[in-house]
Amino acid sequence: MDYIKAANINDFKSERIKSVTILGKRVGIIRGQDSEFYAIEVGCKHQGADITKGSISGDIATCPRHGWKFNLVTGECLNRNTSKLKRYGLKIEGDVILITSMPLPEEEKDEDPLLHFFD
Ligand code: FES
Repeated sequence: MDYIKAANINDFKSERIKSVTILGKRVGIIRGQDSEFYAIEVGCKHQGADITKGSISGDIATCPRHGWKFNLVTGECLNRNTSKLKRYGLKIEGDVILITSMPLPEEEKDEDPLLHFFD
């Protein structure tokens, strides 16, 4: 998988999250509460607002538009059974943060995809 330079560790001395554009897609890089770095898409699964512009408490971001909450480490939406935010691979070389050019493949789901069709 190809990795692209996305940020520098020094960008996170006073901020926990930074939004970058990689190949035309907005990706958030977050320093989690465990001090590890993660990369995740930032377009809200409701109507696409940038969730990094909302409030962040711990690893949870609240969308600025209608308040949906997302776990920035796992991508899960906490108040809707919707598809997760896509996660990107991330590695650190020296002070440079590199992320994969494409999101990681989605994890296998055990449940019937039509189960929550009418939620
Ligand atoms: S756009 Fe995010 S909750 Fe509506």
